Amino acid sequence: PSQRDALKARARELLAARNAVLVAHYYVEGELQDLALETGGIVADSLEMARFGRDHASQTLVVAGVRFMGESAKILSPGKTVLMPDLDATCSLDLGCPADDFAAFCDAHPDRTVVVYANTSAAVKARADWMVTSSCALGIVNHLKDQGQKILWAPDRHLGRYIQRETGADMLLWQGDCIVHNEFKGVELQLLKAQHPNAMVLVHPESPESVVALADVVGSTSQMLSAVINGSAQEYIVATDNLIMHRMRQLAPGKTLIEAPTAGNSATCKSCAHCPWMAMNGLQGVVDCLESGSGEIHVDPVIGQKAHGCIDRMLAYVA
Ligand code: 13P
Ligand code: SF4
Repeated sequence: PSQRDALKARARELLAARNAVLVAHYYVEGELQDLALETGGIVADSLEMARFGRDHASQTLVVAGVRFMGESAKILSPGKTVLMPDLDATCSLDLGCPADDFAAFCDAHPDRTVVVYANTSAAVKARADWMVTSSCALGIVNHLKDQGQKILWAPDRHLGRYIQRETGADMLLWQGDCIVHNEFKGVELQLLKAQHPNAMVLVHPESPESVVALADVVGSTSQMLSAVINGSAQEYIVATDNLIMHRMRQLAPGKTLIEAPTAGNSATCKSCAHCPWMAMNGLQGVVDCLESGSGEIHVDPVIGQKAHGCIDRMLAYVA
């Protein structure tokens, strides 16, 4: 067997020996996605990852994704051991929303209900009333708006603006962005659409307004995947991390998938849309964390308990 096969076999063996389950995001490398599915784990969007980790009987979760995903798993199941292949895998939204600055922002607007995106630290969630993910943000903000609540939103400005526009809610926005989705370009997408007039355009709502405006479907990674599986079109232009195409190809093998254009995504760069932090996850990291217990997520129990409320509220709402 090749070295990769041996590593994969080792990872499989360790997952079984530790009675651990692998919870992977669609943006991690295909090998890890396949391993998760082969071993009884899941490949999913952030909401489904959180729910799966909470509900699974395993006392050890290996979260292949970025740090906030591991933290959410730990917050929901403080008694479980949560490991990550690389603890340095963060997110520009999380980095761009430090807890102290965020607390000051909240303090300055005490009349607003605080709604934070999943892509934040445990300390930021501890200050929030609600957590949302891209798959349920619209519904939850609509619900809050119907109750007459004014919202303070953080940290993704594009997702915030999209929700504001769709719901008409009164929202004050933190000005963060995702370094991956922020790079998709509206003008270039329009040109690409002209070349593929029958293609359906799928856009993650962390993308800029000019890109979202051209979408046939705006949604979370799982919602984009469903659109490819269930869509009647033959071609799909996909504006999100290109590793999602691994799962799209598996579940919709006959469909043609086209990457949406980013600034650098010309003839010379075909795969610019990939999150550098998601890319830190690999088979070796899975083996290492299971072998040595490295990469364990710790959340301060007091912060974790406070943060639990906003995640739980979301999970109860979507149940
Ligand atoms: P999803 O919840 O849609 O999977 O998004 C997570 C994320 O980090 C997107 O960049
Ligand atoms: Fe964060 Fe963007 Fe990476 Fe998702 S793709 S983890 S939002 S930096």
